[in-house]
Amino acid sequence: MLIKVRKPWSLDERDVTPEALFKQRRRFLKTGVAALAGGLAGGLLSSQAFAAWPEAGDMLSGINKTAFDPGEDLTPFDQVSSYNNFYEFGTGKDDPVYAAKDFQSKPWTVEIAGACAKPGLYDFEDLISPHQLEERIYRHRCVEAWSMVVPWVGLSLADVIKRLEPTSKARYVAFETLLDPERMPGQRRAVLQWPYVEGLRMDEAMNPLAFLTVGLYGRTLPPQNGAPLRLVVPWKYGFKGIKSIVKITFTENEPPTSWNRSAPREYGFYANVNPEVSHPRWSQAKERRIGEFFKRPTLPFNGYAEQVAHLYTGMDLAQYI
Ligand code: MTE
Repeated sequence: MLIKVRKPWSLDERDVTPEALFKQRRRFLKTGVAALAGGLAGGLLSSQAFAAWPEAGDMLSGINKTAFDPGEDLTPFDQVSSYNNFYEFGTGKDDPVYAAKDFQSKPWTVEIAGACAKPGLYDFEDLISPHQLEERIYRHRCVEAWSMVVPWVGLSLADVIKRLEPTSKARYVAFETLLDPERMPGQRRAVLQWPYVEGLRMDEAMNPLAFLTVGLYGRTLPPQNGAPLRLVVPWKYGFKGIKSIVKITFTENEPPTSWNRSAPREYGFYANVNPEVSHPRWSQAKERRIGEFFKRPTLPFNGYAEQVAHLYTGMDLAQYI
């Protein structure tokens, strides 16, 4: 039985164009129904995750639509925001939606450090506001072989980097999550070395696909998805998408990354989505789109090969995992 209830996170008609609204609704309804069927049949999501109706953030305005849209059905908001990996709030997929519920991300500062002309402590708003917000629909593929399609809102990482004026010594960009075990209870357990850290080579960070994200579904990021600021690198496994960023450093040497530190045999620095290279414990050839029952083939670079394969010319991608 379908009961039509307006969820607090549904799109506000005043804030979107009629065409966009129509398209979103059509795709949302289709995926919502498929998700329910797939979830029940496949037992993909726990009943707890279905019971959770995560709260959406504040409506964002002045968002440009861009051409980044694979034209695939969107994963409904309730699934994007209740099936999460965020070890600072627990190791279970449905832990963060509960444990991060009251996480406050205002005020927020981001430290810019290392080889650049504009280091310093920036208020989140000052870092973001000179840039135009865009909505980009990206495939989001986790190393655990599940995937989603998410309408992220954010800004080009390359544009932010250009403004910070990296010097010629800046060959990599390192990112760091907040370290605060009071506010992030998962950090009281040594499941990872805290804070969570990630990094990109400079040319990867400057690729037009790399995205600093502040929202999804037209609203600010829910805490469990990495409020207020996270990285989204659509051609890499989801773990490169570091959440709740407090520090960005331009470095000369390859920076450490959390999952590589934790299990170097399983996770490399690059983490490019690669169906031909299996994880030591499972295949990466297929993935389960959250909400669907049958698996689908995984695409090289998550379907973004045309835009990024040239970054790795001459590298043996079975070695540089
Ligand atoms: N960032 C931090 N700080 N801590 C984490 O545990 N998990 C990563 C990544 N970013 C993680 C993180 C992993 S393993 C994945 S798959 C994605 O976040 C999940 O993003 P999502 O919950 O928004 O789908």
